[in-house]
Amino acid sequence: MEGEKEIRSRLVQELVLNGRDPPSCYVQRDHDRQLNAPPQPSSPIPVIDLDHLSQSDGADEAVKFRSALQSWGLFLAINHGIPGSFLDKVLNLSREFFHLPLEDKQKFTNLIDGKDFKLEGYGNDIVVSNGQILDWNDRLYLLIQPEDQRNLAVWPTTPISFRDTLHEFGKKTETVRAQILRAMAKVLELKEDCFVNHFDEKATMNARFNYYPHCKRPDLVFGLKPHSDASAMTILLLDKEVGGLQVHKNAEWVDVPVLPNSLLVVVGDGMEILSNGIFRSPIHRVLTNSDKERVSVVMFISLDPEKNLEPLDELVDEKRPRMYKTVRTKDFLADHYEDFAEGKRTMDFYKI
Ligand code: SIN
Ligand code: FE2
Repeated sequence: MEGEKEIRSRLVQELVLNGRDPPSCYVQRDHDRQLNAPPQPSSPIPVIDLDHLSQSDGADEAVKFRSALQSWGLFLAINHGIPGSFLDKVLNLSREFFHLPLEDKQKFTNLIDGKDFKLEGYGNDIVVSNGQILDWNDRLYLLIQPEDQRNLAVWPTTPISFRDTLHEFGKKTETVRAQILRAMAKVLELKEDCFVNHFDEKATMNARFNYYPHCKRPDLVFGLKPHSDASAMTILLLDKEVGGLQVHKNAEWVDVPVLPNSLLVVVGDGMEILSNGIFRSPIHRVLTNSDKERVSVVMFISLDPEKNLEPLDELVDEKRPRMYKTVRTKDFLADHYEDFAEGKRTMDFYKI
């Protein structure tokens, strides 16, 4: 009989191949579950046409955009400039990678000497305590930018075009990032480059490839437990067929629909802080599916790790006093990895 410790270091994919029910270390406590189907939301997840937003006649789209950032903290972006065929390629390569035999993937492991976790590479998330409830998710985590800091030792070499495609996806995501940051400044009536300028050549972009195997008991586990993102902004490429992501709004969990060729843009804690709380970093989670696997590719965009994260001076005044303490980006991110593992929100420690 396998002990708790061995099970904790197993990939979820292996547990499923062995036909197991979720082991107890994956089973959420009752009060965390609330898996009942959400009631119909009063309004659907906003869809923003990025091309229209940047046009001179895009005022109505800008109103929708601002409201999406303030009330939802996320939106589905269409007409973002990345061809659907390219997005399909990224999703297909991710799926192919996770379908490789275990020993091929283990070459890119995130474990040092088979036991200590590091952030980059293939495996599970960090386990910080014995009582930690694990997520039904295997992942590959890679730093994409700055380019000179890439650790190619953990960048898959199979499928053959994986590395080149990821490089290209990083470049295309950078263009979308700039487009959105400019539009964010504009709707806050700030100088157009004021957010973009914060993301210099030392700003980071990390990719997280998620693989959620099907789960016999989706009612017991989370694909990803409720959390907000510690990034400034997250750009997600979601599975084209299988949903599962939900966002918490007005005390309800709302399904994020599957919308092929779109990107989901999520405000991170970093942007909530920079905007002095005007934009909202939403709590979201992922449910698993009883008979279908799901993949997603998530690009986390953050400031230079050495830079301070704090509200922009332009957004602090008597009517809107400063809402967050100053914190160095790298300290905030380091805290987040541990807090996330324990289901805590780093953001809460920096509120004034
Ligand atoms: C997340 O990264 O929070 C969600 C990713 C997903 O939808 O799989
Ligand atoms: Fe997230």
